[in-house]
Parts: sequence; C-alpha cells; structure tokens
Amino acid sequence: MNDYRSVRVAVLGAGTVGSQVAAVLLERREELARRIGADIELVGVAVRRLDAPRDRELPRELLTTDAESLVLRADIVIELMGGIEPAKSLIERAIDGGADVVTGNKALIAAHGTELFERAERVGAAVYYEAAVAAAIPIIRPLRESLAGDNVTRILAIVNGSTNFILDRMHRFGDSAEAAQATALELGYLEADPTLDVEGYDAAQKAAILASLAFHTEIPADAVYREGITSVTADQVESARQAGYVIKLLAIVEKAVDADGAAGVSVRVYPALLNADHPLASVHGGNNAVFVEAEMAGPLMFYGAGAGGQETASAVLGDTVSAARRHVAGG
Ligand code: HSE
Repeated sequence: MNDYRSVRVAVLGAGTVGSQVAAVLLERREELARRIGADIELVGVAVRRLDAPRDRELPRELLTTDAESLVLRADIVIELMGGIEPAKSLIERAIDGGADVVTGNKALIAAHGTELFERAERVGAAVYYEAAVAAAIPIIRPLRESLAGDNVTRILAIVNGSTNFILDRMHRFGDSAEAAQATALELGYLEADPTLDVEGYDAAQKAAILASLAFHTEIPADAVYREGITSVTADQVESARQAGYVIKLLAIVEKAVDADGAAGVSVRVYPALLNADHPLASVHGGNNAVFVEAEMAGPLMFYGAGAGGQETASAVLGDTVSAARRHVAGG
C-alpha cells in the first residue's frame, strides 16, 4: 500500500491540455507537495506516438504508449485523451484498481457519467470532472458542493466559446456568418470537427452534465433539445440588435412538467434572443458564463475562459490537488 508520502499520478494523453498538465506537475512539484501535504509523483504520460510534436516538451523517459499498464501504477489517473474509447475502458481499469480519476472528457461524462460514478463509488474511488464544462470556470464543484443544500431552479449558460465568438463578431462587428466562422477557425477556437460546435453538440453535452448535477438526476446528452447556429443570419443578428436584443447560443436548464403532468427537467440548447441588459449579453468573444438561479442563493454568475490549454489545465490541476488531498486523508 502507498503510505501517502507520495501520491502517484498518471496522465493519459499529451495534447494541448495533457502536455500542459504534465509539465506543470513537474515544474510545480514542490509547491504542490506543500499544498497537498505529500509529494506528487508523475509516474508516466500515455501517448499515441512517442515522437509527436507537443505544446510542452516532456521528459522522454516519462512517455509510454502502454496506457493499460500505466493506469495500474497510479493513485490518480488524469484522462485527457477525449472521445469515448479507449478513454472509457482505461478509466474503468483505473477505478477497478482503486485509483481516483480526473477527466476533462465532456463527451464521456455526458454519455457514461452515472455508470462511471457508480462504478467508482462501489470501490470507494472518486471521479472529478471540473474541466469537462467551461474549462477554468469553477462550476462543477459549486453545483455539487456549494449549492448542495439549496435548490437550483434554472440555469442559463453560454458553454461553447467558438459559437459565442462567431455570434459576437456578427453582433458587434457586423461580420457575416461565414467570415465570423473563418476567423474562429483561424484562431483555433473550433473543434477539429466544427460541426460539434456550430450544430450545438458540444454545448448539449455540457448542458446535460450541468443539468444532471443541478437537478440530481441523470440526463443524457441525446435527451437535450439541440439547435445550432448554422441558420442564424447576419440580418437576424442585426434586427435583434436594433430591437435591444442579442442572439446567444444558450443552454437552458429548468424544471418542467411533461405531457402526463410528471415533474421533469427541460434541457435545451438553441440560439436564443437575450435582452441586451442581461449579464450574459456582455459575455464576449470566446468566453463562457453560467448563470445559475437557486431558491436561497438567488442569481449567481460564473464567468471566464471556457477553453484553452492553460485554462483547462487549471481546472484539471485543481481536481488533481483535491484527489491527492483525499488520498492523503485516507479517502
Ligand atoms: N470547442 C469548444 C468551445 C472547446 O468552443 O467551447 C471547449 O470545450
């Protein structure tokens, strides 16, 4: 058994976020050890290709293509590969071996979160996923912990930065939809498959995660009503602007009653008209914001960068420190 003088951490994936997380774990080892009360040892980084170019250079001896063996050598497994497989099988393997998991994988959490959380619970492990929604913005922990004693009544959120960037260019600079999308592409804001952004799939996954947490239920991403921004024209944006509105791709989560009168939760993602004086109307560029209304807390807004290597790494490292403290405390 580990005696907690050292917490062993493995990183799966060394893309923009993974290489940043691994580099910071090495650079700030002593500082993190002081915060955690134990040394945090990066035992390896699983990559697809050992010689691929990376955003942050990592020591060659830490790189491995054998992710399956690596997960069994760690107390905390940080999954930043994205996609469903092999991420899901590796996370299951890590959990079954008793490791805690930190992930930024919104597609995986939206589709299989409940199953993974239950699997972890059975062995006393934990799954952390602050980075899966809105990168650096703390929103998972506030919903799961800070507001756990309150009742959330509604969430309005801008959780996709690239579509916010596109609509914002159209609204503030009069860009055409095509020109705005070309700029977003140039700046690297869009996913490798831009359909995920512009058709609202990415926002729907994040909305499902927020809804499940806020309303203590399981809402799969395919149960989310989804409409992207591809049919929004420059004329519509301009007419809205002149009438005192702004068009934003909003995720709207609220209590609803179904056709049979049963209480449920409605989760919708679509380009909505927002009054220009609503706090979300001034979320510009690629930023994200989550506006939460709760019975006792009233309205709260969480705002900041919703993407980026460093920003997402901030959330991943916060989760890693939490998981490491749990280990040190014997959790
Ligand atoms: N493509 C996503 C966005 C990246 O535009 O918000 C962060 O999940």
